[in-house]
Amino acid sequence: MLVYLNGDWIPADSARVSVFDRGFVFGDSVYEVIPVYGHRPFREAAHLARLKASMTAVGMDERLGPVHWPSVCARLAETLPTGDGTLYLQVTRGAAPRQHAFPANAPLTLFAYARPRVSEPAGNAACTAILCDDIRWARCDIKTTSLIANVLLVQEALSRGADEALLVRDDRVNEGAVSNVFAVCGEQLLTAPRNHLILGGITRDVVLELAAGLGIVVEERAPSRAELSDAREVFITGSSREVTAVTRIDGKPVGDGRPGPVFHRLHAAFQTFKEEVRMGRRM
Ligand SMILES: Cc1ncc(COP(=O)(O)O)c(C=O)c1O
Repeated sequence: MLVYLNGDWIPADSARVSVFDRGFVFGDSVYEVIPVYGHRPFREAAHLARLKASMTAVGMDERLGPVHWPSVCARLAETLPTGDGTLYLQVTRGAAPRQHAFPANAPLTLFAYARPRVSEPAGNAACTAILCDDIRWARCDIKTTSLIANVLLVQEALSRGADEALLVRDDRVNEGAVSNVFAVCGEQLLTAPRNHLILGGITRDVVLELAAGLGIVVEERAPSRAELSDAREVFITGSSREVTAVTRIDGKPVGDGRPGPVFHRLHAAFQTFKEEVRMGRRM
């Protein structure tokens, strides 16, 4: 497998980054994961805009690592054997003697590779979740590789026999450790608003567009813990899991314990959308 590293295309097992790289030493680094369908990067412009926003938010100077990401993405997407997979892009603040202050003029480290999709994502298959205190920092809108809190939260979910951790802060369920969260509470479909407490998911945006097209009204308000536990349906969205129903939370069934009608409509619309992307009819 060839990876992109600082302007070169190198076999993955001979690609090297300095042990003094700030991505390694401080987690001083941002990233993106872009789904690919039919060799076409999905919502590429939105993902690259989010990467740029993350870089700006952490004060990374693009001039220290000029790269034409669309060309890199196109080349990586071409290598995917079935045409489907994900692209991983990472930018670190580069290698420099260890001190917290930004180094002067260290070139950014630029890294990217493509990963084939092994199977269709869960889709109709259910996933299960637990509720956890949101132990992350207060800039969840930045897509940084400083992911230790998310790692611990996912591991906590797995150790309790679940797939995802839904994160509660000030009694509100804002998002998951690796996903955004939607809940059907009474007659309303709720999802947390885009602010510093969530990552503004690209899949979330697509689902909001699809919901609008289907006449499903979404209120951008984070459900309370009590609302979530009474929800008729809960589902999560993300680049890898797409749109996946959550059928149990903390061992208790959500609604009747099966993916519900709102999920089914949005999931079906997402599958259609994906097919159109594969055909090159939509982006
Ligand atoms: C914390 C968190 N929220 C939401 C998402 C979903 O974002 P996207 O749909 O852009 O993949 C992710 C994806 O990695 C995530 O890590």
